[in-house]
Amino acid sequence: MDLLRTKSVEQSIRDTEEPTHRLRRALGPLDLTVFGVGVIVGTGIFVLTGQVARDNAGPAVALSFILAAVVCGLAALCYAEFASTVPVAGSAYTFSYATLGEFPAWIIGWDLILEMALGAAVVAVGWSGYFASLLDGLGVTMPDAVSAPPGEGGTVNVPAIAMVLAVTTLLVLGIKISARFNAVVVAIKIGVVLLVIVAGLFFVKGANYDPFVPPSQSTPEVEGPDAPLMQVLFGVTPVAFGWLGVFSALAIVFFAYIGFDIVAAAAEEARRPQRDLPIGLVGSLVVTAVLYASVATVLVGMQRYTELSTEAPLADAFKAVGRPVFATIIDVGAVVGLVTVVLILLLGMSRIFFALSRDGLMPAWISAVHPRFGTPYRSTVIMGVIVAVVSGFIPLAELATLVNIGTLFAFIVVSVAVVILRRTRPDLPRAFRTPLVPLVPALSVVACLFVMINLPVETWLRFLVWMAAGIVVYAAYGYRKSRVRAEARTPAEPGSAGHRPPVER
Ligand code: ALA
Repeated sequence: MDLLRTKSVEQSIRDTEEPTHRLRRALGPLDLTVFGVGVIVGTGIFVLTGQVARDNAGPAVALSFILAAVVCGLAALCYAEFASTVPVAGSAYTFSYATLGEFPAWIIGWDLILEMALGAAVVAVGWSGYFASLLDGLGVTMPDAVSAPPGEGGTVNVPAIAMVLAVTTLLVLGIKISARFNAVVVAIKIGVVLLVIVAGLFFVKGANYDPFVPPSQSTPEVEGPDAPLMQVLFGVTPVAFGWLGVFSALAIVFFAYIGFDIVAAAAEEARRPQRDLPIGLVGSLVVTAVLYASVATVLVGMQRYTELSTEAPLADAFKAVGRPVFATIIDVGAVVGLVTVVLILLLGMSRIFFALSRDGLMPAWISAVHPRFGTPYRSTVIMGVIVAVVSGFIPLAELATLVNIGTLFAFIVVSVAVVILRRTRPDLPRAFRTPLVPLVPALSVVACLFVMINLPVETWLRFLVWMAAGIVVYAAYGYRKSRVRAEARTPAEPGSAGHRPPVER
């Protein structure tokens, strides 16, 4: 069927060789892992930990972090096979084009834009909060009108806009510069996280771990669209804490791992993608999972979960035990660290945009590469400006769950696609093979679905609206302009870009 026309893996790789669309292959395995860790460690651990421990899971929040890592780990094993087989910009989008067909691929591309744009904007807004509190500490108070969005007592969030635009400029100047800049910032961020773990250990009180999984409490004020889909489906009065609370917390702290898939989105810029991508993907996930579980365990040991702050829980826990200097260091780390998260989310998003445009699903002029910097500057600038505007004017805290649902959806598609590609293209060289196919991909799908149904009904509704908009855009533009479909209409020489191997649908 026309909508399910696939783009061959060979063609995807060949597209990357076109001089006008070629990206520079500058990243090694360490750069990729640093990219991964740089985008993964952010608002999730710095902000959400306190909120979910207090409202959903209690001391068992550490468990939620570990369960979330398992879910991501299953998906990472699938991403690693795909990224090492199809090392082309565009991540899950490209993978699904090679397996499921054009329409599902478009849907995924559209979904990934939501994940990354909204994710970057959420983190930028979180960053501006830390920035304001740091300035406060120095005695400089910014008026709310220019540091908060409408609806939260302000008119426009100037710091968030300025930060997003600065990061966009860096990305245009070149990925190598960005990677170096990123490496320094990631080192600072990891240093701060280690400081929390090591220094925090001295203040841990055993009594704070009791009860580890607090008994569930009904929360009748969380109703209708605010309740997790699972609790609505099974007719449970919404509850906090208990095991259901651990699962709701899992669905929220999943945000903390978002970004490792972006290592796959930078595939085309990797020097030796077959070997380096799996290292980057799995490596960054393992590092962050260990850090998160440790930070969460220390945090709930330092302060009773009911007393944790929701704005800056890590720093505030140190204030609570009488160590304000540590708190300031953590504040600085968060301010610096959240910048890299925005940087890499924007990087990943501009690459997806770039891939969509190269395939004719978005206008072609968007994907031109800068003659001097070798970066897809137009897609970077367009998306950077959109994210800046969104982060300046919209309060986004509750939209983090929308980022999660979009990402989980992409994970499911990639997991399914690994199995399909094994069937349709058993011949392709696979530098990394997902173990135990189809068991691991099947577990990945089930795990992602489970997390998704633990998200609020409202999140599902917003997600469906965004997807419906994507279908309209595809019908209006991509369906008519698709390069693969255009080439399929003109008969091609064997071996040329339009030629399809017989195994394809
Ligand atoms: N994982 C990233 C964060 O927690 C998006 O900020």
